[in-house]
Amino acid sequence: TEHTKTTMLIFGGTGDLTHRKLIPALYQLEINGFLPKDFSVISIGRRDKTSDEYRSEILESTKKFSSRNFEEESYEEFSKKVSYFKLKFEDAEDYKELKNLLEQSGKDENKENSYLFYLAVSPDYFSEIVHQLENSGIRTMDSAWQRLVIEKPFGQDLSSAEKLNASISEVFEEKDIYRIDHYVAKEMIQNTHMLRFQNAIFESIWNRHHINNVQITVLEKEGVGTRGGYYDHTGALRDMVQNHLLQLLAVTAMEPPKSLDADDVRNEKVKVFEKLVPFQPDTLNEQLILGQYSGYKKEDKVSASSQTETLVATKVYIDNERWQGVPFYLLTGKALKNKTAQITIEFKKSTLYGEEKDSEPNILEIKIQPDEGITLHLNVKKPGVVDQMAMVEMDYCQSCLYLFNSPDSYEKLILDALHGDSTLFTRWDELQLTWKYVDAIFSTLGEDRTSYLESYERESNGPESLDTFIHSGARKWWYRN
Ligand code: BG6
Repeated sequence: TEHTKTTMLIFGGTGDLTHRKLIPALYQLEINGFLPKDFSVISIGRRDKTSDEYRSEILESTKKFSSRNFEEESYEEFSKKVSYFKLKFEDAEDYKELKNLLEQSGKDENKENSYLFYLAVSPDYFSEIVHQLENSGIRTMDSAWQRLVIEKPFGQDLSSAEKLNASISEVFEEKDIYRIDHYVAKEMIQNTHMLRFQNAIFESIWNRHHINNVQITVLEKEGVGTRGGYYDHTGALRDMVQNHLLQLLAVTAMEPPKSLDADDVRNEKVKVFEKLVPFQPDTLNEQLILGQYSGYKKEDKVSASSQTETLVATKVYIDNERWQGVPFYLLTGKALKNKTAQITIEFKKSTLYGEEKDSEPNILEIKIQPDEGITLHLNVKKPGVVDQMAMVEMDYCQSCLYLFNSPDSYEKLILDALHGDSTLFTRWDELQLTWKYVDAIFSTLGEDRTSYLESYERESNGPESLDTFIHSGARKWWYRN
């Protein structure tokens, strides 16, 4: 409103995420008129530079990474709102100066100040920065609200996540902590909610009586690139499954929430996580495949004897009325043939005339990226005097229909955090339960994983064992269609 001044402070202002995602997202929000009227960004980094230097650096990245139109003129307007502030994350004096700056710029008595602290830094600094905000007195500055946005990874396992959370909770209340999972904000995942709950034809068959299995596949073409140092200590289970893939599972599997309120929606996701059938050590081979692409051990900053998985396939069951017995296949990996992400629902085959030989199950594909859309596979009669069946696809190609690119998920997430809507952010109990699930896998695997880890070629479909794995309960990996 007229009487509010909003300041977003980005810790890690010179980092990759800020350049690739945050600044381009803010620019898009600005030119589309979504940012608050009185809004400014303070980008915080350890390096010495002037705001002008900073603004010309982000000009380059905004040009390069903007999802949509870029115009020099509107960029000029936008960049006036951005300044740079040098600060060492562990230096108390620097935070005092930051506080002075905030007091100076927020002096207008007719306006209330609001602060969004965005931690786009290595997780090693999460706790440090949050406590410095407290100790410097920034946290107790007069303000309408103060919120904390935190990037992943939130911990390495349940116990480290608990420690981190306890430390952060000394300074921020849960309702003011916004933990990012950028997958949930992807356009087609938000659309999944709509598709399920606003279409009676789907909601009535969205259960074990009609669905044979669900496949959640998030595949990447790129290897680890320059992120070997981070990735080699993380691996695909922590990097992708614990957060993104289990979140997609929850969105697909949850019961209709009482309302669209953040807590009602998240309560339903939590109920799904509570009912995940715990990983069974004695059926490990039927439940899990781990892969590593060939050449991974030679990547920059990766250990030459690394046992880190760059691919995971796992079969998950949910023990509730709706889903009992329905396998959810999760597959994610790096250095594969294509970059593609989708959720595929394989329905049960029609058995009206017995198991018709050439009929296929109905398939619903929710395509997340690179193309966005929904495809439904149906059995029809081939035209002609001889009865023959054919499979056809009904296609809603969202990316063909809308000529502009969908907004990047960071646009949605930043905007929601500014509005105080935490629906798409991960609540602590969601995190707890997903870590618990993934921790059980790690403890089953133990230290030496050599016998589990399969090698696969770059630009392939992953290890061959993926085929046998999927046949345990599904017709095939439908994303390969
Ligand atoms: C990140 C992971 O959270 O998601 C990366 O840390 C991964 O390893 C990325 O590459 C994938 O996101 P997107 O949006 O490019 O599919």
